[in-house]
Amino acid sequence: MRAADTASARDAASGGAPLLEVVGLTTTLVATGASVLEDIAFTVEAGETLCVVGESGSGKSMLALAIMGLLPPAIRIRRGEIRVHGEDLARLSPAEWRARRGRDLAMIFQEPMTALNPVMRAGAQVAEVLRKRRGMTDDAARGEALRLFERVGIPNARARLSAYPHELSGGLRQRVMIAIALAAEARLLLADEPTTALDVTIQAQILDLLNDLRRERGLGLMLITHDLGVVAEMADRVLVLYAGRMAELAPVAALFDRPMHPYTRALLASIPTSEGPRTRLVAIDGAVPAVGAMPQGCRFRPRCPHADARCEAVPPLVAHEPRHHAACWATAPEDRAS
Ligand SMILES: Nc1ncnc2c1ncn2[C@@H]1O[C@H](COP(=O)(O)OP(=O)(O)OP(=O)(O)O)[C@@H](O)[C@H]1O
Ligand SMILES: [Mg+2]
Repeated sequence: MRAADTASARDAASGGAPLLEVVGLTTTLVATGASVLEDIAFTVEAGETLCVVGESGSGKSMLALAIMGLLPPAIRIRRGEIRVHGEDLARLSPAEWRARRGRDLAMIFQEPMTALNPVMRAGAQVAEVLRKRRGMTDDAARGEALRLFERVGIPNARARLSAYPHELSGGLRQRVMIAIALAAEARLLLADEPTTALDVTIQAQILDLLNDLRRERGLGLMLITHDLGVVAEMADRVLVLYAGRMAELAPVAALFDRPMHPYTRALLASIPTSEGPRTRLVAIDGAVPAVGAMPQGCRFRPRCPHADARCEAVPPLVAHEPRHHAACWATAPEDRAS
């Protein structure tokens, strides 16, 4: 394989830039121009887990799909940069972007069936990536596929190589997806509620696996979840989205100890206190406004207990501490709120 294509060579070439740097990302509906995501900016460093949280309709999936270059045709990128290894993917042609998927970044979906080929054996799907992306021979790819199946914790791995996706459980299919991402040596992994469809024990195992791989390989992980328990366990930093805008971005301890946005506070107040079944987040009364029907100014204003006249203007994202940002007039430091 060509040395310039290795993950470490790409790291070196990017001069220490974050694995992922999103700058001013704004996406809109093609039909009306209404914004779906507005002015999103954050980084994911090598070895870091960024959790993305927010109620249904906040734009979490659209954010991941935008980074992957997989937005539905009704939505397009209007402004902003998506830098991976320092290279702005938003400037690439669709074919060039496709080439980056798998090589530099990979995505794990809630339902892996949608991403796996239903008529191809699981091991062959991993081996195909090894041949195409890493130039392995058939024999070498078969051996490496087995090794990867073992690494991602697929029991009875040799037999499972020849299983079709529908013959595997949801948890095993998710492990196959992770093996495919590892096969390509993707350094940045986007996971959109990867464990929501799994039972609690399997969910914990998959999250442990992702955590081990992050440490072992220095992966950057962007993990979308509804579950604040998962955030507490997995996140280094947390991005709270509300109605397509950033409400808050903070290290996980700061977010839990000193949440600055009323929306974040409402989310945290919704954490179930007992070991009961995990429900979808319901922050406070009402729902996330629909695209095209956003209130003027702060989008959280109609649901916010602290809303006043200032909130008719869009609150800027300001720093409370060096790495802790929130977009709220009521809690902004004095010098920024006037
Ligand atoms: N194909 C589409 N065309 C137009 N609008 C869409 C499309 N898909 C999603 N949207 C809108 O984009 C907004 C963000 O949706 P998104 O799916 O990113 O939310 P989410 O945070 O992932 O929610 P959930 O927690 O339910 O997965 C929503 O208002 C949604 O209705
Ligand atoms: Mg979603």
